[in-house]
Amino acid sequence: MTKILVLHGPNLNLLGLREPGVYGHLTLEEINQKLADLGKTLGVEPVCRQSNHEGQLIDWLHEAQGWAAGVVFNPGGYTHTSVALRDAVAAIGLPVVEVHLSNVHAREEFRRHSLIAPVCAGSIAGFGWRSYTLALRLLAELLADK
Ligand code: DQA
Repeated sequence: MTKILVLHGPNLNLLGLREPGVYGHLTLEEINQKLADLGKTLGVEPVCRQSNHEGQLIDWLHEAQGWAAGVVFNPGGYTHTSVALRDAVAAIGLPVVEVHLSNVHAREEFRRHSLIAPVCAGSIAGFGWRSYTLALRLLAELLADK
């Protein structure tokens, strides 16, 4: 089955507790379960990982070249700061869909700029946990078109 890496960046392990008015009430585990369920109907297997560490996220992106057909990536706060993550996304040659739970374009000025977006296939923001399910659907469609 087609495998898709779902990569969650820093502080997303705290979902459910962390600013629920901004990021919603679902835990990361509950979001991952929704993705697993959707994957069954789409015929893809999401493989979900979370880290608070930039280097770990980079290592997983590199490794994904060997086993994943695409990546759903929420880089969290690194979205706005990390040249190294941008370079990793650009290097791996896999379609990457950038995801944000919140509408980053309607928040603080510093969140409106993504270093990652220009090297992604596209970005989805502002739909809460549905940003992830939209991204998974989209990647499954893009991969089926190949
Ligand atoms: C986020 C938005 C980022 O600006 C923030 O730093 C996060 C979460 C989102 O999913 O809305 O950690 O990526």
